[in-house]
Amino acid sequence: MSFPGTSDRARSIQASPIRKLATLADKAKEDGIHVYHLNIGQPDVHTPVEFWDGIHDSTPEVLAYGPSLGIPELRDAICGYYERSDIEIERKNVLITTGGSEAVMFAMMATCDPGDEVICFEPFYTNYNGFATLSSIKLTPVTCNVENGFHLPPMEEIESKINDRTRAILVCNPNNPTGTILTREEVESLADLASRHDLFLMADEVYRDFTFDGRTHYSILELPGMEDRTIVMDSISKRFSSCGARLGDVITRNAELMSCLVKFGQARLCPPTLPQYGAAKIYSELGRDYFDRMIKTYQRRRDVLIEELGDIEGIFFQKPEGAFYATIRIPVEDSDLFSSWLLTDFNIDGSTTMVAPAAGFYATPGLGKDEIRIAYVLNEEHMRMALRIVKQGLEEYNRA
Ligand SMILES: Cc1ncc(COP(=O)(O)O)c(C=O)c1O
Repeated sequence: MSFPGTSDRARSIQASPIRKLATLADKAKEDGIHVYHLNIGQPDVHTPVEFWDGIHDSTPEVLAYGPSLGIPELRDAICGYYERSDIEIERKNVLITTGGSEAVMFAMMATCDPGDEVICFEPFYTNYNGFATLSSIKLTPVTCNVENGFHLPPMEEIESKINDRTRAILVCNPNNPTGTILTREEVESLADLASRHDLFLMADEVYRDFTFDGRTHYSILELPGMEDRTIVMDSISKRFSSCGARLGDVITRNAELMSCLVKFGQARLCPPTLPQYGAAKIYSELGRDYFDRMIKTYQRRRDVLIEELGDIEGIFFQKPEGAFYATIRIPVEDSDLFSSWLLTDFNIDGSTTMVAPAAGFYATPGLGKDEIRIAYVLNEEHMRMALRIVKQGLEEYNRA
């Protein structure tokens, strides 16, 4: 029986490199192998008790649709959270979304028509590829490299990629998959570029509080005179270890843009109602102490990564500055094959490690083939075990 056929969009969308080896991992587990997951940004940190308290306290008699923009308590709590960092936003600037994923997709769709282009810096969060395909836009990559810690290349190089279809510049800061934090000067230079070329500046700031070694994060919301151009995408998934809540938000002070985002919000009715009560509580009650504890936790895990992999011949990476990722060059030709081999052919005492091959984090074909991304989301003991498997695996793989 024939059928009409699937869309070009459906056929061309990229399989997530974070999840694409999942069948091999499942098979390993079926065979009794324990798999350490360093392939995905799923923290093992407990979800804050305040989140559950907020949900328990809400006890609605009917779990009804909520407002398309999100519940006012949460939008206000987000304003309060920014106020504690001296960033002024109002309830009308905040739209709650179903995860940071929807926030990025809404931002792309509200700023671009099909065929329009967004400048982004590779390696980038791989699902931007999927969101771009879904919104029929083109990501124009500017390559950053491991030698300079994945900081921005010269502005002229970025400027040379702008053409008459370019609508926006997109950054992820602190960065997934590299852990790099843009300096204030870098953010200001991008703002200048966006202004000169009449572009939007979009920042995915889902890791904004996770900054190491005393660094501070400079948000695009702090840029003076850029109120109509800036769009921030955020999420509670990572900083509050609440990935399953599926809650994020888009923030913009551009009223016209917000009115478009609201219509997208109405089309999908509302973000999930129940977790918003939990999110309102964490945004209002968790402050500096909580983030200081989280920073210590992840910084220690980052240090374990450096201790375990830092001095291996052929491995190269810079000390990550924030978030909980590192993109690492390893001495193999094809990290896709190595990552698969770890799952199918290698274990130490019945355990192996799953990492993400980095090619899928690049838009330029051929780049990242000798790199992997590691998410240091497990406790220190598990991190050590998982990384020793990667280290010994590399030795054995290269001997074979
Ligand atoms: C940079 C970045 N943006 C957005 C997302 C999506 O987050 P959410 O779980 O809120 O959809 C992720 C998830 O890993 C991410 O790393």
